[in-house]
Amino acid sequence: MPKITFVKPDGSRLEVDAPVGLSVLEVAHCHHLDLEGACEGSMACSTCHVIVDPAWFGKLEESTEEEEDMLDLTFGLTDTSRLGCQIRITEELDGLVVSLPDAHHNMLAG
Ligand code: FES
Repeated sequence: MPKITFVKPDGSRLEVDAPVGLSVLEVAHCHHLDLEGACEGSMACSTCHVIVDPAWFGKLEESTEEEEDMLDLTFGLTDTSRLGCQIRITEELDGLVVSLPDAHHNMLAG
């Protein structure tokens, strides 16, 4: 099974099993990580904002226009920001590293 690593706002890292087909948001929830995902993947919030490791960003499927629009409203947007609910785990993403922004900031933006 692929594994992905979450980097928490305090800099600590957590490597977890990431079943193929789940979203990064769902994997984070399985491990009780602090990633809200208020709209449960319908791209109506930005509380699932994650920052993808630059080495991995180009390997993800491209974001849709809807995702880009939502990201534009996200606090703390970076060049490698994505919505966690829109990244689907595949075998190719084994080793993916994503950082979780400060949850409080995500909430302010949402
Ligand atoms: S959970 Fe709302 S946009 Fe991802």
